[in-house]
Amino acid sequence: MNKPTVIGDFFPKKIFKEIQSFAESLEFVDGGKTANGAAKKIKSNLQADYRTSEEKRTISKIAQAIQGHALVQSYFFPKKLTVPMVSKYMPGMSYGKHVDRSHIGSVRTDYSFTYCLSSSEDYEGGELVVHSSDDQQQKIKLQANSIVIYDTNSVHEVLPVIKGERLCLVGWIECLIPFYEMRECVRQVTKIKNGLKDSKQNEYATLLNNEIQNLIKIFSR
Ligand SMILES: [Fe+2]
Repeated sequence: MNKPTVIGDFFPKKIFKEIQSFAESLEFVDGGKTANGAAKKIKSNLQADYRTSEEKRTISKIAQAIQGHALVQSYFFPKKLTVPMVSKYMPGMSYGKHVDRSHIGSVRTDYSFTYCLSSSEDYEGGELVVHSSDDQQQKIKLQANSIVIYDTNSVHEVLPVIKGERLCLVGWIECLIPFYEMRECVRQVTKIKNGLKDSKQNEYATLLNNEIQNLIKIFSR
């Protein structure tokens, strides 16, 4: 299991601003409606309802942009994403400790992401806490235009917002490479390839890149 990955300044500023004003223009409903079973009791937030075809088109364009981001491509091997949810936490709202479902629609949930639209100075509380299997926990307060991507099979929670408003996009990624060990193998070999490139051993880097592409072909499902 990897630690959560945080990527700052995720989109160019202009695109971030466009996503932010899109999210602010949406209508919100009780987020508890999309929770199942026990999660209903611990989920207290608001979620956007995409009402027009224009809103649905915009949110899928945002999903495509997240999927196509160079760092997401090179590290997480995304095959497909769920339609992101826009979630809002007002004072007193939180989402207690839980794990997400293994599949959402047709997407196997290998990684979860939260992309933050609020500036961290605009709200108090509302940290995302990701718990790992060895009882470690990571408390993450995202900056605006930052994304955190973490293993979906981690227990996680959103702490209560004390002041202000926390507005985020939340979604899930299915990887082209289904198993952690396989993804880690490609990441490590890519690291070696980049080392060869940095030390100007370009011929070896190209040869290794060929093998990386072969590994991806073999591992892809
Ligand atoms: Fe969750």
